[in-house]
Amino acid sequence: MDGNGRWARQRHLPRVAGHRVGARVVRRVVEECARRGVGHLTLFAFSSENWRRPADEVSVLMELFVRALRDEELRLQEHDVRLSVIGERGALPARLQDAIARVEARTADCRGLHLHVAANYGGQWDIVQAARSLAAAAACGALAPDAIDEAGFAARLALGSAPPVDLLIRTGGELRISNFLLWHLAYAELYFTDTLWPDFDIASLDQALAWYAGRERRFGRTGEQVQAGAAGA
Ligand code: IPE
Ligand code: MG
Repeated sequence: MDGNGRWARQRHLPRVAGHRVGARVVRRVVEECARRGVGHLTLFAFSSENWRRPADEVSVLMELFVRALRDEELRLQEHDVRLSVIGERGALPARLQDAIARVEARTADCRGLHLHVAANYGGQWDIVQAARSLAAAAACGALAPDAIDEAGFAARLALGSAPPVDLLIRTGGELRISNFLLWHLAYAELYFTDTLWPDFDIASLDQALAWYAGRERRFGRTGEQVQAGAAGA
């Protein structure tokens, strides 16, 4: 979700004004994805590198997150949305950790959209923490190194049993992954748009989904094989 700061600057507003509008866009996009039957949506809210921003911008982002959790708690439940936060949450402000724990517990039984919010998340951190947990299991004899495979590795990543990413949408015009879900993006379709996040509306979501629907996903096979499979199915 990139482009909040530039959106605000274009309007001669402080950057945080862009974050406030961006938070409203999050609500609309989440509700729309839930309505359309999307299984999993992961939002990159705050990266492990975002701590490098000015302290007052960081604290506004944390405050917005706390407030969004408080305001949306009921609506998430009503829309049957399950919330999980991925990332190193121990470094987040205590108030935010409490709010996260409360909403996660409250929505744990929701079975519609599973919304994952990446907060203090980095794709490299995720891979390292999975490796560390496998190494610990191997060191105490609970796991044979030869038994480590892709599925077992993936299960230890922060997204756990969530399926691989089908579609990545990056707003704001940059052509980068920026340490997002590195493992899960292995076969994702990558959609980059110049639209700034505060301007990303339902029509923008439609455009991204229509683009995705037109992609041929081969997963290493040939186009002929995929088409024959689709005809036979
Ligand atoms: C939102 O956009 C990203 C976060 C909430 C961390 P930016 O704040 O990165 O916006 P730009 O890139 O400065 O426009
Ligand atoms: Mg940015």
